[in-house]
Amino acid sequence: MEFQKVLDTRYSVRSYKQTPVEEEKIQAILNAAKIAPTAKNSQPQKIFVVKSEEGMQKVKELTTCHFDAPLVFIICGDSDRACILKSNGKNFMEIDCAIVQTYMMLKASDLGLGTCWVGRIMPDDVKSAFSLPENLVVYGFLVCGYPADDCEPAPRHFDRLDLKDFVKEL
Ligand SMILES: Cc1cc2nc3c(=O)[nH]c(=O)nc-3n(C[C@H](O)[C@H](O)[C@H](O)COP(=O)(O)O)c2cc1C
Repeated sequence: MEFQKVLDTRYSVRSYKQTPVEEEKIQAILNAAKIAPTAKNSQPQKIFVVKSEEGMQKVKELTTCHFDAPLVFIICGDSDRACILKSNGKNFMEIDCAIVQTYMMLKASDLGLGTCWVGRIMPDDVKSAFSLPENLVVYGFLVCGYPADDCEPAPRHFDRLDLKDFVKEL
C-alpha cells in the first residue's frame, strides 16, 4: 500500500474475523520490528507472539481489550539492553519499544490487517501468566487480525486536534 494510504486508513480495530494470520505476514510484521530505530541502536525490544488456544485464553484473562483477535504480540523491553544516558540517567527503553510497536502496527495495516494497541494491562500479571524473565518490562499488547466485515473506526478516531492546536513555529 502507498505509505500515505496506510496512515490515512489505519484505525484501531476492535472486532476481528477468526481467520488466522498467515505466518509470512507475522514474519513481515516482526521484520518491521527489527528495522525500527532505537536509541544508540540498543534494540531493547523483546516480542512474544501469542496465537495458541492456551495463550489466547491467558490473554483473555489479562485484559478485556482482546477483541477476540486471533493473534497478539506482547511488546516488552529488555532492561539489560536499555540505552540509558550517562549524563542524566534518561532511559530510552519505553520510547524505543513504542517506536517498535508503531512500526509493527503500520506494517500490519500495510498487509491489510487490523490492529489495536492495548495499554490496558497489568504488566506484572502478564509477566507471571507467561512466566516471562525478570529483566523484561511489559509495555503492551498489539492485538492483530483481519477486521470483521462490519468493523468501523470508533467515533474517537475522527476526533483530531487541528494543527494550530499543537504546532507552533518558533
Ligand atoms: C499507548 C496506547 C495505549 C492504548 N491502549 C488502548 C487500550 O487499552 N484499549 C483500547 O481499546 N485502545 C487502546 N489504544 C488505542 C487508542 O484508544 C486509539 O489509538 C485512539 O483512540 C485513536 O483511535 P484510532 O487508533 O482509531 O485512530 C491505545 C493506544 C495507544 C497509543
